[in-house]
Parts: sequence; C-alpha cells; structure tokens
Amino acid sequence: MKDKSANPSTDTFTLTDNRSGKSYELPILKGTLGPDVIDIRKLYAETKCFTYDPGFTSTGSCESKITFIDGEKGILLYRGYPIDVLAEQSDFMEVCYLLLYGELPTPGQKKKFEKDITYHTMLHEQLIYFFRGFRRDTHPMAVMCGVTGALSAFYHDSTDITDPHHRMVASYRLIAKMPTIAAMAYKFSIGQPFMYPRNELGYAENFLYMMFGNPCEEYKVNPVQAKALDRILILHADHEQNASTSTVRLAGSSGANPFACIAAGIASLWGPAHGGANEAVLKMLTEIGDKKNIPEFIKRAKDKKDPFRLMGFGHRVYKNFDPRARVLEKTCHEVLDELGIEDEPLLDIAVELERIALEDEYFISKKLYPNVDFYSGIIFKAMGIPTSLFTVLFAVARTVGWVAQWNEMIEDPTQKIGRPRQLFTGAVERKYTPLHTRK
Ligand code: CMC
Repeated sequence: MKDKSANPSTDTFTLTDNRSGKSYELPILKGTLGPDVIDIRKLYAETKCFTYDPGFTSTGSCESKITFIDGEKGILLYRGYPIDVLAEQSDFMEVCYLLLYGELPTPGQKKKFEKDITYHTMLHEQLIYFFRGFRRDTHPMAVMCGVTGALSAFYHDSTDITDPHHRMVASYRLIAKMPTIAAMAYKFSIGQPFMYPRNELGYAENFLYMMFGNPCEEYKVNPVQAKALDRILILHADHEQNASTSTVRLAGSSGANPFACIAAGIASLWGPAHGGANEAVLKMLTEIGDKKNIPEFIKRAKDKKDPFRLMGFGHRVYKNFDPRARVLEKTCHEVLDELGIEDEPLLDIAVELERIALEDEYFISKKLYPNVDFYSGIIFKAMGIPTSLFTVLFAVARTVGWVAQWNEMIEDPTQKIGRPRQLFTGAVERKYTPLHTRK
C-alpha cells in the first residue's frame, strides 16, 4: 500500500480560527518540483469548515507523476522531458508511450507499441450507422462526443476498470480510433465515403490519408504536413490537471468506463475557454480581417463591459510564454514556407496582433501571453483542415494524456470518488404552501 501522503515532510502549516482561538497543524507535502501543498484532507473533520475555491485556482486535486508545468518560467515537462526537446527530436508515438509508461521506449518497445496501436485503428463496422444518425452539418465535436461515448457499447472486453489489461486495451483503442472517428466526422460532413485506415502509414500520416484520400484514386500524404501534424499532436498530448483532464478524472472516479470518461473529456475540451479556442482564434483573425483593425479589437479585449477576449491569449497557469506557442509559431512559418504559401494574411494579422498585445500595458500587467491555440489554427488552415475540425484534432492529441491520467488515477490507492462541497447561499428551510393558497 502506497504511503497516503506521497512526500510527507515534517513541515506543517498552522491555521488559526480567530473565532475560537484554536489552532490546527496541517501537514505540508512536497513534490519533486513545484510549490508545496497543504494537506487539508482532515480539515473538515477537525475544524468543521470547508475550503472555498471556485475554479480550483489554489487547489491540487491529485498526486501525479505525468506532466509538470512551471507557469512563471514557461516550462512544460512530460515525464521530465522538456516539450521543445520532444517536439524537435521525438515523435507522437514515442510521446504516447512515454506518457503511458513513464519511460522512453527502447527500439523494440516502440516498434511493438506502434504495431499494437495500428492494430486497433479500425472501427466496429456497426458504428458507421451511428454517423448516419447525425445531420450533415453537425459540429464534428458533437460527433466526437457521441461516437466516443458509444464505443462503450461496442468494446465490452475492455471496460473492466479493475483489470489492468482491460484498461490498457481500452487506452490503446482510444488512442488508435480517435483519428479514424475524426476523419469519419469530416467525410460525413462533406458527403464523401469513409476511408479505412491503412496499417503501413504512421499515425499522423494515416489521419491525413483518411481525411483527404478517396477510394477513386491514389492519395500520397505530403510528408511536410504529416511531420507538422505529428509535432502538433506532441504539443497537445498532455497538460496536467486542465479542465478536460480533471473532467476525465472526475467522471472516472465513480468507476465509469473509459470510453464514457473520454467522451466527458471531449465535451469539456469543446468550450472556447479551453480547446475550442483554436477554432475561435481563426474566427477572430478572420473577423479582424486587416492589420489596421487590430487596435479596435485590442480596445474591445480591454473593455470590461465587452465580453470579447483576445482568443489564444492568456492562461490559468502560464504567466509567461506558453512554451508550446513558441514551438508552434516556428512550426507555422516552417510549414507555410515548405508548402510554398508566401502570403497568409491571417498569419500577418496574428504576428502583428501578438506584437501589439505584448507591448500593451493591459496584457503586460495581467501577464497575458499567446497560448497553444494562437498559432495552431493557421497551420491547420494551411493544411486544408476545416476550422470546425481544429478542436477535434486537439481531442485526438489529448486522448493519450486523458488515458494516462485516468490510468494513474485508478492505480492511485488514495483515489476516492470526486465530490466537492459548496458554500450554500440559497433559502433556509421553508414551509410548503399548497398551490391554491399562493397569490
Ligand atoms: N483577453 C483579454 N483579457 C483577458 C484574457 C484575454 N484573452 N484572458 C484573461 N484576461 C483578463 C481577464 O479579464 C482578467 O482581468 P481582471 O483581473 O481585470 O478581471 C484577467 O485577465 C485574468 O483572467 P481570468 O479569466 O481570471 O483568468 P483564468 O485563469 O480564469 O482564465 C483563460 C484563463 C485561458 C480561460 C483566459 O485567459 C481566456 O479566456 N483566454 C482566451 C481563451 C483561450 O485562449 N483559451 C485557451 C487556453 S490554452 C489551451 C487550453 O487550455 O485548452
């Protein structure tokens, strides 16, 4: 049995209740990196008080060994490896292995892992009828939520969450099938036949083949696009306890099956404050339309009475450059160069918008920098991926993070069903009055 407090220290935090004058000693836990954590698990039992932290701005919800972020310094590590190094030197399949198993694979382990993932890329044929139930103009994220949840109904041999083998098979299935579902959502929307995956292709390559190929002619995937997509997948693979990952953990904490939990994660990712921001960025850049209009949008973003926010800017954790945005900006220029796209007006607007915002006192004082979603959409657009599919690609990439975090949660002996409490400000108990007596 694992120690209840992962890294207990002799340090404590003293909390004094000024109403009673009583003091409480709370243990302090130390991680390998990052701020210390005050262990408040016994707080309610001892003080009869809850903590109040809407949006979890000061709350650690779990212990994890997967991903570390230092938001002040702009550092992101997957299992200890810096994101820029992985983006430059690794590939998505290797990163998936790393996130799932904690170590980089040997050549033999990598080959087997790729083969095993490839083996699961096809969907149960019956699932095709699911797609037919959607309207052609359905947002593909709605399809992703629905079809991923529906996998629970098809793969009963991998839903026993107490069995590590079942859990790993479900994890492989999810990583493998997500690009197939995503490409099918696109094909359905444009009325083209679905393309079956091809086992000789790499992960990103296969997705592009299923997206842009058709059964009537041979389709060769552009290696520049496949490489760029692979890099984007690496950058989006995990991001510790963000909204969608916390959703997956919370859904899973009740013992729900993995496919349903990942469908919940997809739903959370869809929102514009989270993964939906990449789609929103492109819409915003299109709406700005011309560099001369930027000051007007900056003004709107600063106006508290206007709900408009600069999409692709700001982050709960990063108070410095999002390291993923730096890699993506570079990748964006590389991809456009290699695809021979000399003039991309949206990139010009994005670069100028970033320049103006980073010199503006409002953005400087609030430490608002471009995040991962700021440049990814321009790359997707250059690759011919429709805007509505941007967040879908985020979901494809994040699936490995979700399943890695979900597995870690199930294996954690301290794990309990997630059940936050509340500060109740509604009516106190009242006497019911029969309908006919009410005026
Ligand atoms: N434009 C203008 N003002 C902003 C922005 C923005 N993009 N982001 C934050 N602010 C202001 C906000 O109004 C607030 O001001 P004040 O303190 O005067 O009330 C202050 O900065 C702090 O913002 P917050 O909303 O309290 O911060 P948060 O940590 O709750 O929100 C965020 C983080 C990412 C939701 C927010 O920055 C935002 O809405 N950004 C735009 C959407 C976006 O790009 N999301 C992608 C996030 S990265 C990828 C991912 O998570 O999927």
